[in-house]
Amino acid sequence: MQIVCGVITISDRASQGIYDDLGGPAVKAAASGYGWQVVAEDIVPDDRSAIQRAIRKQINQGCQLVLTTGGTGVALRDVTPEAVLEIADREIPGFGEAMRMKSLAITPNAILSRSLAAVVGQTLVLCLPGKPSGAVECLGFVVGAIPHCVKVLQQVPTSC
Ligand code: MTE
Repeated sequence: MQIVCGVITISDRASQGIYDDLGGPAVKAAASGYGWQVVAEDIVPDDRSAIQRAIRKQINQGCQLVLTTGGTGVALRDVTPEAVLEIADREIPGFGEAMRMKSLAITPNAILSRSLAAVVGQTLVLCLPGKPSGAVECLGFVVGAIPHCVKVLQQVPTSC
């Protein structure tokens, strides 16, 4: 089963064109490298409604997996976790736990990321940090569980 996925960059400055979006393309390249089909890419500001709209739009575009990058930290404008949890049916805590645990071996600042995974409808939404290398690293730490998770949510028969 090929995973259909979307990428959302969440950043005030990237969305205003103040700087180039490097996170979205980095996550897209990683997703393509895993063999997933990236069918949607959006850039939105750190704004709850804009984040929720983009996620819902990508779900309507057929995304079984939505990867967000940015807005997971502790800056006052960082609202990605709040935005996602507000529309989520459930959180899957292991993703955030694993990302932080593994990332702590790379940087002590990893503890500041409130990265998480949640289910919205039948879609897995994975919220990665904003730093491009950090986003790709975090995706790599949890990638092993993603195909199975997506299959279960899509109600595709699995062996376990
Ligand atoms: N995780 C990994 N694997 N590598 C990193 O470089 N950077 C951290 C952290 N997680 C980082 C990481 C930093 S510096 C911050 S501030 C937080 O993610 C939150 O990032 P965000 O607010 O851009 O989402």
